[in-house]
Amino acid sequence: MGLFTKDIKTMEDLFQHELQDIYYAEHQILKSLPTMIDKATNRDLATALRNHLEETNKQVDRLDQVFKKLDMQPKGTDCPAIDGIIKEADATAGEIDDKQVLDAAIVANAQAVEHYEICRYGTIIAWAEELGHDEVVRLLTTNLNEEKAANTKLNTVALRKGVNRKAAS
Ligand SMILES: [Fe+2]
Ligand SMILES: [Fe+2]
Repeated sequence: MGLFTKDIKTMEDLFQHELQDIYYAEHQILKSLPTMIDKATNRDLATALRNHLEETNKQVDRLDQVFKKLDMQPKGTDCPAIDGIIKEADATAGEIDDKQVLDAAIVANAQAVEHYEICRYGTIIAWAEELGHDEVVRLLTTNLNEEKAANTKLNTVALRKGVNRKAAS
């Protein structure tokens, strides 16, 4: 299914497209997190990313359950948005030699990913409720809450744990 092709006729089609979009996005995130973890110097940052990698694996399992409950085959659809966020993250990270500045960049890049996911899950949950797919709302909400918590954790790492301060000094 192409992006906004005529294949999307109904709200249900749009909902399913969005589910496939986040499914693809979660898989791309699973691939990119290990690189971010490798590049991170700050221990709190590396731990936060490592924990979120574990969570992301579970999120994909939950999405598999969502597809099953909806009698859909789990599959992704290209999501140029997440590809772009990851591509830009790799590009900036590749240009930074200073390890502490790199940590600040990794936090910022990871937060861009989390915000993307928060926005997508928020929409999908609202649409699931509207379309009467109550059986998948809890699973999707668990994922949304983990994305929010990951974003909050990254904020703490940047501000309270001193990643930004060290990068600026
Ligand atoms: Fe996720
Ligand atoms: Fe996430």
